[in-house]
Amino acid sequence: MIESSVSSEAHSIDTYGNGNGNGIGYGKTILFGEHFVVYGLPAIAAALTDYTKATVEIGTEGLTFIDNRPETPGYKETKRDEIQRQLNALLKHFKIDTKINPIKITLSGNLVCASGIGASAALAASISRALNQLLDLNMTDEQINGAAYIAEEAGSGTPSGIDNTCAVFGGLITFEKNLHGGLNKIERMKIKQSVEIVLANSGITQETKIVVKDVKILKDKNPEMVEKVFENYKNVFHSALPALENGNWKILGELMNKNHELLQEITVSCKELDKMQKIALEANAFGAKLTGTGRGGLMLILTPGEELQQNVANSLENVGFNCKKTKIGGD
Ligand code: MEV
Repeated sequence: MIESSVSSEAHSIDTYGNGNGNGIGYGKTILFGEHFVVYGLPAIAAALTDYTKATVEIGTEGLTFIDNRPETPGYKETKRDEIQRQLNALLKHFKIDTKINPIKITLSGNLVCASGIGASAALAASISRALNQLLDLNMTDEQINGAAYIAEEAGSGTPSGIDNTCAVFGGLITFEKNLHGGLNKIERMKIKQSVEIVLANSGITQETKIVVKDVKILKDKNPEMVEKVFENYKNVFHSALPALENGNWKILGELMNKNHELLQEITVSCKELDKMQKIALEANAFGAKLTGTGRGGLMLILTPGEELQQNVANSLENVGFNCKKTKIGGD
């Protein structure tokens, strides 16, 4: 269910208040359950502290869009149409007719755009927050999340809503999409100790819409096989929860490997991701799986302790994969 506080009236230039608005949206990594979450299965995700910042102000003509976000080479070009669909959806949702009220949107921040890091949701959340401030709408976070979801839907088809939820609320969550259109089940998770991870970048940008659609085609063609994968995934999820909560990294790593195997079965991995997993495990990582859309994008690697984290990152960087070292479960 989408909550919205945007009235049906078109906004006029006088409603631009002090003339500008700012907002941020966080990146994310999915620990368990990408793709399965689209079908109502539960998932675990962590927002990153890296964010996209949006500034919106009165423009000179139509929509001026300036995208200063750092990126994996080629990301913005590949996502050009998707970004345009998101912007159109946001302007429509916030009732802004840029012919009458020109607007300028500038994106910045330290989130490096890549497939799998929730960059499109961070865009949607940051612009929604900035427009809320510009138009003085006093929207709640749930309403901001609703607006960000609308932009995600326009951008990538049938999103579960997990990415925009992380982008808006931050933190570590479990997420279950309500397939009947009611409120999604979102719970905050607390874990006993934070843990080091590496996010390794394949350098390949993927369209979420295409990969999600391919999974649907596979499921329609071969429902029994995919249902079996879903059943196996449910077991992975239920074992992962206590392992994560209690800091049982050995078990958690094995479950991440299992989750990656299940994602391979539904054809969303690729040779670069599988190669990164092999290198990471050979460098003694506790576990590794693709995170997000797949068929490129990022690999999430569990590396408890800074020394292991550095060693694994070195092994991957030595063969040309960029790595980000961060933690999940920190305050
Ligand atoms: C993308 O970050 C995650 C997917 O599960 C799609 C979605 O949940 O909307 C692939």
